[in-house]
Amino acid sequence: MTPGKQLTGTLALAVFTAVLGSLQYGYSLGVINAPQAVIEKHYGRSLGVWSENSTEEEKFSHVGQHPAVTMYWSLSVAIFSIGGMLSSFLVGFVGDLRGRVKGMLMVNVLAIAAGLLMGLCRMWKPHIMVISGRAVMGFYCGLTSGLVPMYIGEIAPKAYRGALGTLHQLAIVVGILISQVIGLDFILGNDDMWPLLLGLSGAPAVLQSFLLPLCPESPRYLYILLGKEQEARKSLLRLKGEYDPTPDLEEMRKEKEAADKEPRVSILSLIRSSVYRQQLVVALMMHLSQQFSGINAIFYYSTAIFTRAGVGQPVYATIGVGVINTVFTLVSVALVDRAGRRTLTLVGLGGMCCCAVVMTVGLKFQSEFTWMSYVSMSAIFLFVSFFEVGPGPIPWFIVAELFSQGPRPAAIALAGCCNWTSNFIIGMTFPYIEKFLDCYVFILFAMLLLAFTVFTYLRVPETKGKTFEEIAAVFLKRQKKSVAPSPKDATELQQLKTSTDA
Ligand code: GLC
Repeated sequence: MTPGKQLTGTLALAVFTAVLGSLQYGYSLGVINAPQAVIEKHYGRSLGVWSENSTEEEKFSHVGQHPAVTMYWSLSVAIFSIGGMLSSFLVGFVGDLRGRVKGMLMVNVLAIAAGLLMGLCRMWKPHIMVISGRAVMGFYCGLTSGLVPMYIGEIAPKAYRGALGTLHQLAIVVGILISQVIGLDFILGNDDMWPLLLGLSGAPAVLQSFLLPLCPESPRYLYILLGKEQEARKSLLRLKGEYDPTPDLEEMRKEKEAADKEPRVSILSLIRSSVYRQQLVVALMMHLSQQFSGINAIFYYSTAIFTRAGVGQPVYATIGVGVINTVFTLVSVALVDRAGRRTLTLVGLGGMCCCAVVMTVGLKFQSEFTWMSYVSMSAIFLFVSFFEVGPGPIPWFIVAELFSQGPRPAAIALAGCCNWTSNFIIGMTFPYIEKFLDCYVFILFAMLLLAFTVFTYLRVPETKGKTFEEIAAVFLKRQKKSVAPSPKDATELQQLKTSTDA
C-alpha cells in the first residue's frame, strides 16, 4: 500500500481510544430503559412511598402511579439530554484549550464522577444521586459527542475519513446494545445490581484515561492553531508511518495562512456570517434529519411500540433492534468511503420514509389481520437498518468535513447542540404525539423524512475523498452564485477564495 495511506497501529489505537467515549455515550443512552420498574421501586422506598412491611406487589403497584416517583423518574431520564445540550456548546472551547487529546482526558473526570454517583447511589438518597449522576454524565456526553468526531476527522487519512468517522456511531450502537443486554433482569437489571448497571457507564472513561497519553495530538490542531510545524510533522509520521508528509503539511500551511487572516470564528460569528451559511444549513439539517427521523422514538419506546404491534417478547425484540443496529452500522463502515456520504444518506432517508408508511399500514390493520404484526415488526427492523446505513453515522462526522479549521470547533458545537435539543424534544413529546395521532404517528415522521430526502438531494454535496480545501471550494462556488455578500463577508470570502485557489 502507498506510504501514508495505510492504517497504522498508532492510528488504530488513537481511533479505538477516542471511540471509548462514544461507547460510553451509547451505554448511557440505552441503560436507563430496561430497569425502569426496578429503579422506580427503589425511588419509592427513599421517598417513603412504601416501607419494608409492604408486599412486593404493593411496592410495584404503589410506585407506578405515585406522582413524586414519576416526576423523579422522568427527571432522571431527561436531565441527561439537558446536560448534553448545555455542554455541547463548550466543545470548541474544550477542544482548543489544550488540544483534542488533553480535552478528552480532562472531561473524563466528569464521566468517572458520574459513574461513582450512580454506582454508590444507595449510600444516600438514590433518586438524588442518580439524577445528579445522569446530569453530569449528560454533560460529559455532550462534550464527548463533539470531541470524538472532531479528533477522528482531523487525524484520519482522506481515503478512510468516512469509515473511521463511522466508528463513532458504531461505538455508540455497541454501547446501546451492551446496556440492553446487561440490563436484562437476570444479569444486572435487578434489585441488587442496578446501581452497578448505572455506575458501569463510567468504566470506559477509566480505560480511556490510561490510553489517551499514548495517542498523538491532532496534527491540524498543532500546526494550524498553534503553529508548531515540527510537532505536527512528528504527529503525522506517528499516525501514518514512514512517508513524505510534505503535501499534508503544505495543505495545512495554506489553511493556516487563511485562518490567520480571519478573526477567530466564535459560535455567534458563525451564525451571523453569510460566508459559512450554506455549510451551516447543511450541517444543521443533517443533524435535524437524524433526530427528527424518529429513530429515538423507536429506541426510547421500542418495548411499548412492539407490544402495540402485537409482539410477544418485546424486550428481546428490543435487543434484536440493537443487534440490527450494530450490523448495519458495520455495513456503513464498509460502504461509506466507496458509495459516498450523499448517496448513503439519500438511500437511508428514503428507505426510512417508506418503512414509516409500511409501519403505519401495519399498525392500522393489525386488529383485522394478525399477520400485520409481522409487517410492522419487519418495518421497524428495516427502519433501523436504513438509519444506520447513512442518517445515523454520517451527520456526526460530516460537520468536521464541511468546515475548515477556523470555524470547525464552533460548527461542531452548534451541530451538537442542535442534535441534543432535537433528541430531547422527541424524547419528551413522543408519548403525547402518539396519544394524539394514535396509529398514524409514523406518518408524521414519513412526511419529515420525505422533506429531508428532498433537501439532501438538492443541497448536500459529496465530500468523499475530497480535501478540506476542495470541499470549501464547492460551497464557495455556490456562494458566488447566490446573493451578493456584505462588504465584511466579501473580505472573508476573498480570503477563503485565496486559500482554495492557492
Ligand atoms: C445516533 C443518534 C442517537 C441515536 C443513535 C441510535 O447516534 O445521535 O440519538 O440514539 O444514533 O443508533
